Amino acid sequence: MTAAADRLIADLLDPEFYQDGERMHAAFTWMRANEPVYRDRRNGLWGITRNDDVRDVERRSTVFCSGQGYRAIWSPEEINMIAQDDPRHRQQRLLVQGDLTGAAVAERKPDIEALVAELVDGLAATGEAEFVDAFSGQLPARLTCRLLGFPETMWREVKSWSERLMRTDMRERDGEVFRDFFDANMEFVTALMPIAQERKGCPAHDFISTWVNAEIEGEPLPPSTIVHEVGLFIAGGAETTRTALTHGLRAFADHPEQWEAMAADPSLVPTAVEEVLRWVTPLNNMFRRALADDEVGGQEIRRGDRIIMLYPSANRDEAVFDQPFRFDITRDPNPHLAFGFGTHLCVGTNVARTTLGAAFTALSQRFTNLRPVTEPDVEANIFARAVRSFRVAYDLRS
Ligand code: HEM
Repeated sequence: MTAAADRLIADLLDPEFYQDGERMHAAFTWMRANEPVYRDRRNGLWGITRNDDVRDVERRSTVFCSGQGYRAIWSPEEINMIAQDDPRHRQQRLLVQGDLTGAAVAERKPDIEALVAELVDGLAATGEAEFVDAFSGQLPARLTCRLLGFPETMWREVKSWSERLMRTDMRERDGEVFRDFFDANMEFVTALMPIAQERKGCPAHDFISTWVNAEIEGEPLPPSTIVHEVGLFIAGGAETTRTALTHGLRAFADHPEQWEAMAADPSLVPTAVEEVLRWVTPLNNMFRRALADDEVGGQEIRRGDRIIMLYPSANRDEAVFDQPFRFDITRDPNPHLAFGFGTHLCVGTNVARTTLGAAFTALSQRFTNLRPVTEPDVEANIFARAVRSFRVAYDLRS
């Protein structure tokens, strides 16, 4: 038992808590050792820090629900899949899941690799780049355009919408964030409307077509559901992969021997991708609310209590990972929780893994001697380890 004076006091809704990775991980290490179900008294939250306990909460989705606030701020009007519980969650998820299976994404792989090759050629023409603009922000934004059905020329807009939507948790504390968040919503809805109209009569192979022509229990999807699903995919698809790519490349700059090993033996890429996901953990957390009195990790939880699952902590849990603070692209098994777990497990895992795999394969084949020119400019953001820019220099492999 820790004496009250020694107890770590953390504000889990302070955006700056997540900004400095080292400080954040020091706090999580303390919590896992001393108070694994951490009481954030200021915000009335239970912080779940251990890998097993996060899995336990995610597994018991009928007790720990998403439908009363999966983010810091509960928006009851939000009715995409992630903001709802089964059975409605599952019905909406099934509309797109078939196009995101391993086999379906394998069919898209040549297109993903071609886009990666085009962007790598762009980097090769220089010897230094702002990696987010030239590569990591662009690649997933363009893939998100394709998946949803926005023209690919709109990738800059998609990139900007994803950045602003990802600041959702701060919108009630900062007027500028609120206006920006509101504007991003207005902008994407304005762009969506004519495309949705067109796809209704003339469907294409994209998710906007799927949603405008879908029915659940004989009823078409309400327009607001479609809008919220599109918003979820913009932020979920474009922002997270960008974060993994950027911080991942930064980690490789610190571990040149592992970069060279991957270049020499591309069969290491799949485990390298998993280690990047564990190491970076693009999303900091998801929230749940208890629908009944229960218990997690020996801690009593009362009906109505709010829970925050802390993924970066679960991914450095020394009870599960050998030397968790060591970046090791051969780590196997690697039971990280970067994609969550259970009912709401990320539906885009195959797209994300394929994109990251294609990117790190092509980048490591082409470039060596990675040198950060600036550190990744990490935002103070509750939701994501969002990175605005990262300038890096490199040599072409001879
Ligand atoms: C490195 C990239 C990614 C990471 C780290 C990531 C992470 C996550 C996490 C942590 C969740 C919540 C899981 C839970 O509550 O248990 C989630 C859900 C989701 N993600 Fe991803 N994601 C990534 C890429 C993508 C991509 C590429 C897409 C779209 C193609 C996507 C779409 C979604 C959707 C729609 C959900 C909601 C699923 C549901 O409620 O059933 N994500 N993601």
